[in-house]
Formats: sequence, C-alpha cells, structure tokens
Amino acid sequence: MTWQLSNTALDEQQLLVNESLMFLGNGYLGVRGNFEEGYRDDFKSIHGTYINAFHEETDIQYGEKLFGFPDFQQKLANVIDAQQIDVLIDGERFSLFEGEVVSFDRTLHMDQGYSVRHIHWRSPNGKEAKLTFTRVVSFVTKELFAIKVDVEPVSDIKEIKLVSKVNGDVTNYVEKGDPRLASGHAKLIYADQAVNESGLTQIKARTERSNLEVACVTRHEHEGAHDVECGDYDVTETFTFSGDGASLIKYNVYTDTLRHGDDLLQKGIDIQKGIADFDTILSEQKGYLDEFWRVSDVAVSGDDSLQEGIRFNLYHLLQSVGKDSVSNISAKGLSGEGYEGHYFWDTEIYIFPVFLMTNPEIAKGLLLHRYSTLDAARARAKEMGHKQGALFPWRTITGPESSAFFPAGTAQYHISADIAYSFIQYYLVTKDEQFKEDYLAEVLIETARLWADTGFMKDGKFLINNVTGPDEYTCIVNNNYYTNAMAKYNMEWAYKIYQDVQGGGLVEKLGVTDEEAAFWNEAAENMFLPYNEELGINEQDDTFLNKEVWDLDNTSEEEYPLLLNYHPLTLYRYQVCKQADTVLAHFLVEDVADEETIRKSYDYYERVTTHDSSLSYCVFSIMASKLGHDEKAYHYFNETARLDIDNLHKNTKDGLHMANMGGTWLAMVYGFAGLRVKEEGLTFAPRQVAAWDDFSFSLRFRGRLINVELKDGQVVYTLVEGEGVTIGHYDERVQLTVDSPVAKSL
Ligand code: BGC
Repeated sequence: MTWQLSNTALDEQQLLVNESLMFLGNGYLGVRGNFEEGYRDDFKSIHGTYINAFHEETDIQYGEKLFGFPDFQQKLANVIDAQQIDVLIDGERFSLFEGEVVSFDRTLHMDQGYSVRHIHWRSPNGKEAKLTFTRVVSFVTKELFAIKVDVEPVSDIKEIKLVSKVNGDVTNYVEKGDPRLASGHAKLIYADQAVNESGLTQIKARTERSNLEVACVTRHEHEGAHDVECGDYDVTETFTFSGDGASLIKYNVYTDTLRHGDDLLQKGIDIQKGIADFDTILSEQKGYLDEFWRVSDVAVSGDDSLQEGIRFNLYHLLQSVGKDSVSNISAKGLSGEGYEGHYFWDTEIYIFPVFLMTNPEIAKGLLLHRYSTLDAARARAKEMGHKQGALFPWRTITGPESSAFFPAGTAQYHISADIAYSFIQYYLVTKDEQFKEDYLAEVLIETARLWADTGFMKDGKFLINNVTGPDEYTCIVNNNYYTNAMAKYNMEWAYKIYQDVQGGGLVEKLGVTDEEAAFWNEAAENMFLPYNEELGINEQDDTFLNKEVWDLDNTSEEEYPLLLNYHPLTLYRYQVCKQADTVLAHFLVEDVADEETIRKSYDYYERVTTHDSSLSYCVFSIMASKLGHDEKAYHYFNETARLDIDNLHKNTKDGLHMANMGGTWLAMVYGFAGLRVKEEGLTFAPRQVAAWDDFSFSLRFRGRLINVELKDGQVVYTLVEGEGVTIGHYDERVQLTVDSPVAKSL
C-alpha cells in the first residue's frame, strides 16, 4: 500500500489537485494527470505537458521600471498535447461526468513507474463497459510518453471508437490574483506543422522569442479500422472496433532544440523506431526503479500514512529532477506551472542534498546546469553595478534573472552563497579533485568576488548591506545573519581552494591576485554576525529586533498566508517570518554559532515564524532534533511528509512543492539521524523516533553504500558496498568494513 497513491472514488473537488499528484515525469518530460477523455465543459483543468527548461521569454510589464530591472522573464511552456483520447461507445462519448460511474479507481505505482485508471461506466443510454487507462513516462527513453487504453464491454455493445488527438495549439494556464502564478502570456508556442505520414503523426511547434522548437511524433498500435484527419495544428486519428472490446497504445516521442538540436521530427522518428512494446517499457521502468529504491528508499514501520508520504515525495523528486545538465529542478518540478518553471535556491539547499547522498551523478548534473549559467551570473553582477564577481539570479531557467519583484527576488543575494555551498558539499562528499579544478574553484572565486564587492570593512568588521535573507517577510536589510554566515563560509572556502589550485591556469585566467584572495580571508574572519547580548540570540539582521512583534495568537486562519492578505510593507514592519532564516543558517553552518545561541535562537524564531512558505517546517524539524526537542521535531516533520497529498498549503493544484519534498528527507536524515558532512567525513547524531519501531535509509559516500537503521534503541551502521570507512557516531569514530554491521546504542 505504501508504494501506491490511490484514489478510490471520483472526488470532483480534488480534480485539479489530483492532476498534480498523479503527474508522471522523468526529469525531461512531465505530463499532468489529466483525464484522456476530458472533463465537463464548465471545468477548467490545468492541462499540461512540459519539457524541463523548454521556455519562452515574455516581457515583464512594470508600472515603473527602474535601472537593472529585468526586461523579460523566462517561462516554462506548455508543449504539444498528446493526452487526449475520446472513447465512443455506440456513439455515446464516455465521460465521468455523465451517465453513471459504477466504480472508479486511479493509482500511481511508485515502485513500478506508471499510473492506471479503472472505470466501470454506464452510459446515459444504459451501455456498460470497463475502461482502463494506463500511462507511463519512461525513465529509460526520456522522450517517451505512452498511453494504453482498453475497453471491455459489460453490456451488449456494437461498436467502440477510440479517437486520439495530438494538438499543437496549446496555451499556458493563467490565473489572476496569485503572485505565485503567471497572470498573462498564455500563448507561448505556435505549431507550424501537423501531418500524418508513414503512419506517424508529426507536429512541430516553436516559441517566438527564445527560438526553441519542440516536436511530437506519435505512433499508435491498434487492430481496429483507422481514419486520419489533419487540422492546421492538430491531427486526429479515429480507430473503430467491434463491440467485443478495444485496445490502443499511443506512443508519443518528444524532442526539443535544447537536447536534440535541429531536425526534431526526424530525430523523433528515429527514436520511435527503437521503442519497445508496452510491456517491455513497463518492465524497463520497474528495473530502473528497483535500483533507485534500493539506494534511495527511506523505510519506517508503524505509520503507513507517513511512509506513503515519504515515498511519494522521493518519487516525485525523481520524476522532476533534470538529469542532463541542461536543466535543473524547478520549484514545482514538472508537475505544474506555479512559479513558471523557475529554478530557485530550493535546488541547492533543499533538493540537491537528497541526490548528493543517494544519486551523486544526478546531483552533479544539477551543479553543471548552474555552472552553465555562470557567464549570465557574471553579466548580472555587472548590470547590478558590481565591478566583479557572479550574482546568480533569484529565479531563472537558463541564466537570466526572471524575478520582477526585487525586494524578495534579486535582493536575495544569498542564492550565490547557497550555490557555492552546494558545490562545496559535492566536493566534500565525492572528493572529486577534477571537479574541484574544473568547476568548484571557479564558482567559489566568482562568488567570493561578489561578496567582496557587495560588502565592505568598517571598524574592523565586514558588513553586507541591503540584501534579503530567506525570510521574505523581512526585506532589504543590513547584515542578514543567514547571508553573512553563508558568505563567510563561501569566502573561507574560496581562499582555501585558491591556494589549492594555483598553477593550474584558472587563477591566471581569472586574474586572481594573492591580495584579492587574502581579502576574502580577512572578510570571512571578520564577518559581522549580528548577536543580541540580552537575548543571547543571533539577530536576523541589524534591525529585526527593533520591530513590533506580529500578534500571531490573534491572527485568524483566513489571514494565512499573510502574503495574500497584507501589503509587503506592512509585513516588513513587524517581527514576523515567512520561513526559517537564522535557524536555517544554524543548520547549514552550525560551527559559526555556539549551542546555547542556537538553542535560544530556535526558541525565539519559532515564536515569530508563520511557516507560510513550505520551505520552513523541515528546517525547524531538523533543528528541533539537534536540540533534543523530539516531539517538536516529529510534529514539524509531519507537516512536510504529506503536505501535497493532503494539500495542506491549498495550492497543490499548481504543482507539487519540491523543496518541501526534499525537506522531508532532510528532516529524517539530517534531523532524526543527525547526519552532517564535514571535511573529516560523515558523522551521525541519531535520535530515537518514538513513533517508529524501525527506521532505515541508505547513503552513497565516495563510491560506498552505507545503510543506517534505527531500531530497538540502537543504531546499526552497515557498509553494504565499497571500501572500509570511518564514520562519526556523535564524538566516537566508528570503523566500518563491508557486511560487518556495527551497532551503537541510542
Ligand atoms: C519562498 C522561497 C522559495 C520560493 C519557491 C517562496 O514562497 O519564500 O524561499 O524559493 O517560494 O519555492
């Protein structure tokens, strides 16, 4: 049961949410869980098929446009639609909203990588049939999305028709009034060709400004009689069967400029030739997922509902994460259009660590994608008035800043330190020296330069003014603790790596001098980290504690999230946090503060945090574990694991919350098991989770596979694959050799 997410009845209120929950993807292609046969006419489904990073550029409309505001924004485009298949039973069109639905179930099989819908339907005229729709987006052939439809008669039926359409005339979804959604620019792609030749439907479409093309080549496997009708931008194929039953398989292959260059239709045709039959596709899918789960599963016993949530979140991360260095993972993955398909710091701080510790090659791809945007980040730094360095954009697809609201966008300079942090983490986990020389050094040097140029020394302290930290309810502040602490770490490492890579050519290429590097070290050592003596906490920034405290006790349910009910300035005037900020810094760079400060800061910020951002709970859970607040840790964790399944933020229809999904894993592995990755390797500080009899997961570490299991008051570390290694269990060093589990009491 915990390997499946099922709907056992048709819940009309949940249709849009289920389109997101049941979406299928593979990191390249994502298809929302729309019904093949459509909906009621008055229902607006969010109909979508997306290719990771495939985007259009649209002008940003400003009332007042000031210098350095981006002119345009990139947007993930909804591409050619191949989902539609109508079913006609003796001339009556099958619809879940007409006639009688005798039974309905839909299941996402997370261990097998497909979804299936079973419906027993009685038409208004009394015809009865059982219909099955099975769909798969292949992990093995990334371009492939296939649907199989089976219709089995229950009553006497004379004729069944299956009408399959591929449509190039599609639009994006728009909704006014929610800043987290696009409000204009619905039409992003234009079809320029729709033909059916040699048994293949072939449609090509393009964007006007970003100059990208996408093609879909569709082949049907069937036994009925067959008719084809080509429109200007779509092709409809009708398959006619006797009343004894019908079966059709629709194989759709998507190619695009970013991965396939030109001649996309021919490339699609070539890929079609190599596609296996449907059963083979399903068994390949299972093979891929067996290996994924062998390494990546986190098993808990004693709570099936949580277990389902945990697996669901991991599965969806896998479905959305780009695996080709051309793409990354957007805030909603490939499950919807919320946040317009943009990549944020969500990747580096919340999602990347999951892959780093389980599938490092995927993690590397994410870094290489960021690296491919380094030139754009250098250009953005110049545009923002910096003499040097790289300023990564707050939100983007291929590199340009796509944020129109700079106080909670561009001003979040911390993203540059977050990216640097993830490059360092990758190096610590893999010790890949080539990576250090080819990528890490350059990213660290350019980000350190940004900090050197943004901040300045005053009275012996390095200050960074006018930035926004992670908490978007407190914008444009001086010396945000999170930003300063992360910049300190960034500069320290830049200095260290600069010394390592001298002589390798990079230092000369970038023109780094010893004086410049020495300044990074000096700035890092003297970084100003706001601290309030009286409260014994790190202040979120220079002025946070001078503000009035928001009265959360008297804020009603309807007022949340505050961002939808209050002008930003109102929020900025109060001590009220949208999400973890200082508390997050105390997790990521814990050595910068002492335990007492971390403890008091946690207590303080917990009281002023709304968790209006889904990026918050997991961080509080991790820190609650660290501080021994076990019940709280579990409580916050519980808010993450089923956030989308239970639609806790009420906007799952726009797509799944990918950062939170990563956060579920972080809360378990960095929280309950207390993992930390430092220069000396891996250390654990596990805590018994009272609700679970057994809790286990695995990690990859420099070519090894290590399993960790918490059970019966013990933690058992097992080296499953690879050479012997020493890990830390609290302050103790523990030597692991293959297949010799080591148990420690908790
Ligand atoms: C959060 C940001 C996050 C963005 C995308 C916002 O609500 O405040 O931290 O990057 O969502 O997930």
